[in-house]
Amino acid sequence: MKEKLNNLKIEFIERLAIISNQDDLEILNKDYLGKAWKLQEILKWIKDLSNDDKKIIWPEANKLRDFISEEIEKKGLEIEEQRYANIEELEKIDVSWEYTNIPLWHKHPISITSNLLEEIFISMWFKVEDGPQVENERLNFDMLNIPDNHPARDVWDTFWISDEINKDKAPWEKVLLRTHTSPVQVREMLKWKLPIKIIVPGRVFRYEQEDARHTCNFYQLEWLVIWEKVTFWDLKWTLETAMKKLLWEKTNLRFRPSIFPFTEPSAEIDVSCQICAWTWEKNGKNCSMCSGSWFVELLWAWMVHPKVLSWAGIDPEIYSGFAFGMWIDRIAAQRFWVNSSRMFYQSKLKLNEQF
Ligand code: DAH
Repeated sequence: MKEKLNNLKIEFIERLAIISNQDDLEILNKDYLGKAWKLQEILKWIKDLSNDDKKIIWPEANKLRDFISEEIEKKGLEIEEQRYANIEELEKIDVSWEYTNIPLWHKHPISITSNLLEEIFISMWFKVEDGPQVENERLNFDMLNIPDNHPARDVWDTFWISDEINKDKAPWEKVLLRTHTSPVQVREMLKWKLPIKIIVPGRVFRYEQEDARHTCNFYQLEWLVIWEKVTFWDLKWTLETAMKKLLWEKTNLRFRPSIFPFTEPSAEIDVSCQICAWTWEKNGKNCSMCSGSWFVELLWAWMVHPKVLSWAGIDPEIYSGFAFGMWIDRIAAQRFWVNSSRMFYQSKLKLNEQF
């Protein structure tokens, strides 16, 4: 009889060990302690035992019953604890996360302006493209009709990547920090998918003497349209519409002839100074943005040079294109009346918090 009790105990321990949820535990509980409990059978046999044997077996059987009910209760608590631990893990919230992000609530004025420009051009069915900030010499200069030794290279003096990296490269493959977003024009043309209608916002770098209008790194927005019979009028209309949407209805544009190796003809485009237009009395000749001239040089544009098209494999006899580049920083300064775009790079939270 003792052996039977022992076997029952071993069997119970084995079954208990593999149980991991309340439902299975309930079944086990019924099996051992319920009405049809296994112990019950043993108790029936005990009835037929001699009085001496009963004295020994009864306490043993009671002990086993207590053991089983204690173990089941313990297991129940364990299962419950594990369930809560799982829920905790699943629904864990890092309360410090939001705290550290509070100072990031203000978008930088350059990002705001860039996003606005993207929205305006997307509404005119332009696609937004991107390109690398570390560019090769061929795309940044050569393919844009600015060969080595061309005087125009001085205008776009830049930071070259260290000699260590550049030393084994062919002269035109040397890498540099791109001076403008124009190389993305070439990258897009080389995909040979016409028509092209893209804008390219992005960061550019120059070796510059810093002042209110010049910084060593700034943001440009490039624009390129290539298709059959594209003309200057398409460019003028698109540009005027975009600037009026971005600044205000009465914004004027002024086109002046200029020279860029990758456009022919070329123009510099001035936009009426927003700071002076609104606060004429205050600024006038002292305006650090336009020096009292009422206009700020913000854009450069015109028809893509036929050489640039043909080098990229596009037939200039069939297709024409126009392009422009603008400085997002200067546009942001105009839009938000900040009189020096250099302030955007001085990590002044007081400035950013106003937007
Ligand atoms: N890439 C020129 C610069 O950074 C600006 C520019 C001029 C872009 C004429 C153009 C363009 O797309 O057509 O100064």
